[in-house]
Amino acid sequence: MCGIVGYAGSAPASEKPLEVCLQGLKRLEYRGYDSAGVALVAPGMNTVVFRKKAGRLSNLVNQIKRTPMPDATVGIGHTRWATNGAPSDVNAHPHISQDGKIALIHNGIIENAQQLKFDLQAEGYSFSSGTDTEVAAKLLGKIANQVIEEKGEPDLFEALRRVSRMLTGAFTLLAVDVRQPQIVVGARHDSPLVVGLGDGENFLGSDVAAFVAYTKQALELGQDEAVCISGTDVTVTDFDGNAVDAKPFTVDWDASASEKGGWDSFMDKEIHEDPEAVKNTLLGRVDLDGRLNLDELHISEDVFRSIDKIIVVACGTASYAGLVAKYAIEHWVRIPVETELASEFRYRDPILTPRTLVVAISQSGETMDTLMALRHAREQGSRVLAICNTQGSSIPRESDAVLYTHAGPEIAVASTKAFLAQITAAYLLGLYLAQVKGTMYRDEISNTLEALAAMPPKIQRVIDTQSDVVKDTARRMVNAHSFLFLGRHVGYPIALEGALKLKEIAYTFTEGFAAGELKHGPIALVDEGEPVVVIVPPARGRNILHAKVMSAIEEVQARGAFTIAVAEEGDENVADVADVVFWRPECPTLMSPLVDVVPLQLFAMDMATLKHYDVDKPRNLAKSVTVE
Ligand code: AGP
Repeated sequence: MCGIVGYAGSAPASEKPLEVCLQGLKRLEYRGYDSAGVALVAPGMNTVVFRKKAGRLSNLVNQIKRTPMPDATVGIGHTRWATNGAPSDVNAHPHISQDGKIALIHNGIIENAQQLKFDLQAEGYSFSSGTDTEVAAKLLGKIANQVIEEKGEPDLFEALRRVSRMLTGAFTLLAVDVRQPQIVVGARHDSPLVVGLGDGENFLGSDVAAFVAYTKQALELGQDEAVCISGTDVTVTDFDGNAVDAKPFTVDWDASASEKGGWDSFMDKEIHEDPEAVKNTLLGRVDLDGRLNLDELHISEDVFRSIDKIIVVACGTASYAGLVAKYAIEHWVRIPVETELASEFRYRDPILTPRTLVVAISQSGETMDTLMALRHAREQGSRVLAICNTQGSSIPRESDAVLYTHAGPEIAVASTKAFLAQITAAYLLGLYLAQVKGTMYRDEISNTLEALAAMPPKIQRVIDTQSDVVKDTARRMVNAHSFLFLGRHVGYPIALEGALKLKEIAYTFTEGFAAGELKHGPIALVDEGEPVVVIVPPARGRNILHAKVMSAIEEVQARGAFTIAVAEEGDENVADVADVVFWRPECPTLMSPLVDVVPLQLFAMDMATLKHYDVDKPRNLAKSVTVE
C-alpha cells in the first residue's frame, strides 16, 4: 500500500537525495496518501535528519520549505496508507532508532510487533507512535549496535537481515544509518521492492515509478531477499547473507507516461488511453498469417492442451475482467471457467489438479489476496498464469507464465484502462487455447482477432460521441443517493464494474445485479426517481436476452425509476423506453464489455468531479493493496 523510495549517490553530499526522494514520492503518492516523510544522511552527521507530516505530500514539501534539509549522500522517502496507527504526524514514516542514528521506513504489517514491543519496553526502550514500524526501527537500532559490538564496525546490511529474520507478517523495509552514510539497505517479505540501476547512483522503490525519471534499468528482488545499494554497487542476498542473482529488466515505459500531462486528473487521462491500452495489448501477438503467437508464455502447447478447467482469481475490477473472461473462454474453448474472488479462494479448499490452469489477474501485480491465492494453487500442483500490467512485480514473478497487459502505468486509484487491457489479454488467452485445443476453426480465430483489432476505434468513438451526454446526465444525477446497475450475460460484470467505479470515487451507494435477479429482491429498492443503469445486449442474434433486459427496464420504470441505458447504436426499442441512452457502436457481443464500460467510467469520474472529490485519490483507498 505504501510508497517507498531510496537513493544512494557517489558524489559528495548534495541536494540530489532529497530531490530524488520527493520526485519519487510524487510518483508513488497513488499508493497511499495519509502522510509522507523523508530521512537524509551525510558524512559527519551524528543523527539522521528527517521530516514527516500527516496528509498529502504537499504538506511535507511545505514543511521542508519552512525548515530546509541539509545536503546528503543517501536518502529514503515514504508515502503512507495507514494500516497500523491512525494517519498523523507521529505515526508517519520514517521512524527513528532510540539513539537517533538510524531511520527506517516500512510497507506492510508486522504481525509480531506487539510481542517485540513488550520485549523492547522491558529493556527500557520507549515508543511514541502507535505503529508496528517504530518497533522495527527500535529493534534495528538495537541489533545494529549489537553487530558493531561483535564486529568492531557498523554493518547495517547484516543488522537488517537479522531483523528481517525476527519479523513475521509482510514487510518491505528500507533503512539508513549515519555511521554508514554511503548506503541504503532494504529487505522484502511478501511486499514489493525493486532496484533501479543508475550511473554512479542507485535507487530503490516499491515500484519502478519511484525512479523511472532517472533510469529504466532495474532489478527484480525475490521473496525474502535483502539489498544494499551505494552509488556504485548493488548487493543482493537472502536473509542469511547468501549471495543471490537478481533478475534484470528494462522498464518499458517513459516517465512522461506517469505524468498527468494537460489532463485534469489521471483518471481522465487514463480513460482517454482506453483505446491505446487495448491496441498495445494486442500488439505483436498475432503472426502475419493470422495465428496467435504467445511463445512468451513459456508453457508448452502440450500442457495447454491438457488443461481441463480454468479458475480465474482476482480482486475488485480485475475480478470483473475475470467474469468477462469466463463468458468468452467457455464459449470459445468449451472448458469450464470459474471466476473467484482471490480473497475467498484458498479458504474454501478449491479442487485443483495439474490440469487446472489458474489465471491470476492483477494490474499492480502486488495484490496480496491474489498473491496468496496463486501460491495456494501452485502448492496444490496447478499451473498459474498471470495477466498483469506491472513488470518486476510479485504476481508475475511467482507465476508459471505471464501475459503482460500493455496499458502503461495506471496511477488513478480507480482502475480504467487496465480493465480493458485485462479483458483483451483474457480474450487472447481464450483464443490461444482454442487454437491449441482446436475448438475453433482457424478462420474463426482470425476473424475474431480481426474483430478485436477493430475495437480501439470503437472505444474512441464512445469517448468522442458520448462524453457530453454522460456529463449532462451526471449533472442531473449528482444529488442521487443511490444507484442500481443491471446487466445480463457479459453485461453483468459491466454492471458490477460500473457500480464499483461510482462507489469508490463518488462515494455513492450502488449495487450491481444480474438483471434476472431483479425480481428476486432488488426491485424492492426501486422508488420514484431511483436511478437504474442498465447494460442492454444487442438484439442481433440475441433477441431473447435483449427482450428480457428490455422487460427489466420497463419493470423498474413502472415503479418510477429513472433509467439510463448503455445500448448499441440503432437500438430503437431502447431509445423509446429509457430516459437516457449512452450509445456505443456495433460489435460482437462478447467484445461489448470493451465499449459498454467506457461511458460508466466517464460517468463515475464526472459525478466525483461535480461533488468536488479528489478523483484520483478517493478516501480510504490505495492503488495497490499489499495486505490481506
Ligand atoms: C478498482 O477501481 C480498484 N480500485 C480495485 O478494485 C482493484 O481493481 C483491485 O484492488 C485489484 O487490484 P489489482 O488489479 O492491482 O490486483
